[in-house]
Amino acid sequence: MKPKVILPILFLSISLLLAFVADPNEISFVNQNFSASEKQLTKLLDTANQIDSLYPRTTNPEGKVVFTNMYEWTSGFFAGSLWYGYEGTGNTALKNEAIKWTEKLEPLKNFTEHHDLGFMVYCSYGNAYRLTKNEKYKDILVQSAKSLSTRFSEKTGVIKSWDRFGSWDGKGRYDFPVIIDNMMNLELLFFASKVTGDDRYKKIALSHAENTMKHQIRDDFSSYHVVCYDSQTGKVLSRETAQGYANNSTWARGQSWGIYGFTMTYRETQDPRYLNVATKMADYYINHEDLPSDYVAYWDFNANQNGYTPSVRSKAKEMPTNYRDASAAAVTASALLELSTFKGVDAKKYRDAGVKILKSLSGAAYFAKYGTNGGFLLRHSVGSIAHGVEIDVPLVYADYYYLEALNRYKKILAGA
Ligand code: GLY
Repeated sequence: MKPKVILPILFLSISLLLAFVADPNEISFVNQNFSASEKQLTKLLDTANQIDSLYPRTTNPEGKVVFTNMYEWTSGFFAGSLWYGYEGTGNTALKNEAIKWTEKLEPLKNFTEHHDLGFMVYCSYGNAYRLTKNEKYKDILVQSAKSLSTRFSEKTGVIKSWDRFGSWDGKGRYDFPVIIDNMMNLELLFFASKVTGDDRYKKIALSHAENTMKHQIRDDFSSYHVVCYDSQTGKVLSRETAQGYANNSTWARGQSWGIYGFTMTYRETQDPRYLNVATKMADYYINHEDLPSDYVAYWDFNANQNGYTPSVRSKAKEMPTNYRDASAAAVTASALLELSTFKGVDAKKYRDAGVKILKSLSGAAYFAKYGTNGGFLLRHSVGSIAHGVEIDVPLVYADYYYLEALNRYKKILAGA
């Protein structure tokens, strides 16, 4: 063969090879952070195992771990973090702890008092089933999907998040509020339909996603936190915030739940409309002019800006500091990494942005030194500034989505 023919073939072969051989620096980045996480998780385990039947969530101002009961929305994240820690490191001690912390949550399968069952059960039992294929876990997940479905209304076409919601201005009282976070609960319903063959759960998820897309996302693909429906007519009565800066602002973690929720909904449906919403919501985050250079968003994209005013009773107006929210960044990193694996998207853009967040969170500014931070991995998250709680603290769900993102990046590097 002539050099004119050989050279392009050689070049193409080398490029293809490089594209499929993972960069050793990236593999070592992932492995180092799994090792650091494994050590730190073990530290939190030591504390958590001294307390029976409570679930770690954050730290108090003295740096002590704060626990909740199992009925709080965050109860499943610690077990989920242990599963991801096990998956990333192969440490069977973490697996045994993950089993123990998951199985304590079994009573949740009949819980119907708020919408967060998807978080509570899918992050714990969902990972448990994915990694062990234990049929008992599958049954618990299906029963949980049944319980969650009781909150769906044919009249509104959505799942009720909370039983009531009062506006921050003290005027509005609603009995059918839906928050953008609720998109995250749909994964449990898609799962239940897949494993049972009963499409009732999937139908609920589709109806919820459709209405959320219609009523909760603005024209610029930012999101409202809370949409209140008329429980009798299904009409939208108001659009407000509970945890964000103002009713017309974009609460960063709400935007992250939307990016993640619509990315997952596209994975489960292959409906291009959901891919469109997921990519545009992701673009809103990535391209926002106030996104700091490390891509860890401020807690609300509009905090302390002209044109955005917190309602009279919200504590947001007493907060001049624009705190970052590492939890929003961790959720977004995980979602972007999944988004980057879909055909027809700018894979490089979403992967680079996801990896950038992951690297920021893995740096000294966010990743806690061993033994500090109450044993949680990440610093600088925000629970709810509007309520004046959990400001600039570790949060168990920030750690969960960080570990999920690390696992997703590991799989991308492995070409899986
Ligand atoms: N799902 C509640 C929150 O994100 O704070």
